[in-house]
Amino acid sequence: MASALRLGSTAPNFKAETTKGPIDFHEFIGDNWVVLFSHPEDYTPVCTTELGAFAKLEPEFTKRGVKLIGLSANTIDSHEGWIKDIDEISGSKLNFPIIGDKERKVALAYDMIDHQDATNVDSKGIAFTIRSVFIIDPKKTIRLILSYPASTGRNTAEVLRVVDSLQTGDKHRITTPINWVPGDDVIVHPSVKNEEAKELFPDFKIVKPYLRFTPLPKEKTSASA
Ligand code: BEZ
Repeated sequence: MASALRLGSTAPNFKAETTKGPIDFHEFIGDNWVVLFSHPEDYTPVCTTELGAFAKLEPEFTKRGVKLIGLSANTIDSHEGWIKDIDEISGSKLNFPIIGDKERKVALAYDMIDHQDATNVDSKGIAFTIRSVFIIDPKKTIRLILSYPASTGRNTAEVLRVVDSLQTGDKHRITTPINWVPGDDVIVHPSVKNEEAKELFPDFKIVKPYLRFTPLPKEKTSASA
């Protein structure tokens, strides 16, 4: 029985075959951020659209130092044929690896197997619960876990938005409010006292003592430093 994964857990390491060759997952992460997203079965309709959308948005992830990697509980031979369909349907050029997890070893290590029935005989062998998104940082810490029902396609823009929020929060002492997108005001981190906030965020505004908004400070360039 694999242990439950939580935010803050170290992403379990594994070796696996992928459509881009064998990988050691921790080596694959290296110094990058990684988005790992999973599918229960190849040639499933919703998953087909999701993979096409991730492939099309990959340049935006790359700009942010994020590597994409998919997983599906079939063989890599099966994945190869599916990728052709995905590219045909979506107009994508899917270039990131997809893990072949026919044995569901990675799915088990990542706590994605139906806890009521690991064999999934109840659902004609399709493990509907292998539909998660993990955002993993360069320290190999899991920073986001999302689990989707089979009936609902994921939102790639939301995954990118969370990457932006996490990376911004790692850089500045801030958090991001509901529906934040880059360019919006952010929240001064509760650990920053007002005296320090005046230095860090000269334009911060106190809405309540526990809720202080600020524009992000402008990046200092070597020319302006
Ligand atoms: C899909 O449409 O992608 C899907 C269908 C059945 C199970 C899981 C996913």
